[in-house]
Amino acid sequence: MSISTERKEFPLLYVNQHSRGVIGWGAHQMAGVECQINGISHALLVTTGLKGTGIVEEVEGVLKANGISVTIFDKVTSNPKDYECKAGTEAYLAAGCDGIVSVGGGSAHDAGKGIRIMVKNNGADTSLRDFAAFLDPHYTTRIPTYRFIDIPHVAVNTTTGTGAEGTAFAIINDEEWKYKLILIVPGVAPSVGLNDPALMRLQPPQMVAWSGMDAFCHAMEPFIGRLNMPVVHGVGIRAIKMLSENLRQAVANPKNDVAIENMAWAQYIASMAYNMGGGMGMVHGLAHMVSVLKDLHHGYTNAIMMMPVERFNAIAAPEKFKEIGEAMGLDVRYMNSVKATDITLDAIERLRGDVGIPQEPLSTFDFTDADIDHSIKWSLNDISREANPRDVTGEQVREIFRSCMD
Ligand SMILES: [Fe+2]
Repeated sequence: MSISTERKEFPLLYVNQHSRGVIGWGAHQMAGVECQINGISHALLVTTGLKGTGIVEEVEGVLKANGISVTIFDKVTSNPKDYECKAGTEAYLAAGCDGIVSVGGGSAHDAGKGIRIMVKNNGADTSLRDFAAFLDPHYTTRIPTYRFIDIPHVAVNTTTGTGAEGTAFAIINDEEWKYKLILIVPGVAPSVGLNDPALMRLQPPQMVAWSGMDAFCHAMEPFIGRLNMPVVHGVGIRAIKMLSENLRQAVANPKNDVAIENMAWAQYIASMAYNMGGGMGMVHGLAHMVSVLKDLHHGYTNAIMMMPVERFNAIAAPEKFKEIGEAMGLDVRYMNSVKATDITLDAIERLRGDVGIPQEPLSTFDFTDADIDHSIKWSLNDISREANPRDVTGEQVREIFRSCMD
């Protein structure tokens, strides 16, 4: 094996441990036992509410049956906000909780992580900005000043895309800055993530599509990315294969038990690709800006930005795109890698279209030139840029956005 000669901003790479996981039908019934194992006697149950599914009530019942006291905090919204973490922190401290149980998708889990960071530091007075990961100053230089987050967290995952139930990052909206803070603090990964297909099969099809394309980006971005970590290649390429073989069927019928179980695994290992050290790229970097400015679903904005960004990135990683094509079952093995990249990108766009997501113009969401200027300012210092396979300038970001406007 040759040594990678791709330029990296920093020579040291961090390999994060993924959270313990319990995966399979009925996994949510382990929530109470996992609270006991991890020392939680009074949980703050953090959720968006998941209204109409009965899931929150079900998990609350499981916890109480195991002798765990429960205080419910259901004020989290999609794209979880800094003020929601503050309110959750106040609820946690007022009730005397000793751990978090998050129930839902990435928004619930990341809000739970944000609350744990705040409780461990200065409570509701904590500024989450102090833990935001930027390129300059590089986030790794601040890590030695952080307190290890040792507040236990049981994450009950209900969607097939986020991976946040197992990852060492929290993404929280700073509503004043209009920026998604990427919080990387040692210990912030949940103590355990429970992935239960019996809950995931209750998702509406659109959620399966949006979160599924998010998972595809979680596998693809680190696989083609500059950090180029071998551990990432294995899980990333397998996740792409599983997603391309199961996402359509899961969207067509979320109660297709084989497809949704495979999606549960695919989203899990896709998140390992970026969490274990592969990082994200500018699909997430730019999609974060669209979602924070227009309050659009994270997976949806990734699906909107993935083709323009990856067509821009294509010249940086044609051999990687060829491998992705092979994983998707395309007949590209003996093909020139540039041609194989074209075919692979067309197949990814076909998958996105098949699950009902068109290339919606950003003007549809009133995304303006001022929004582009704001996005350039923040995305260039975002750590998502670090792993992007192609160098990217502000003017190139502008061109990518402009190509998506109409
Ligand atoms: Fe994502």
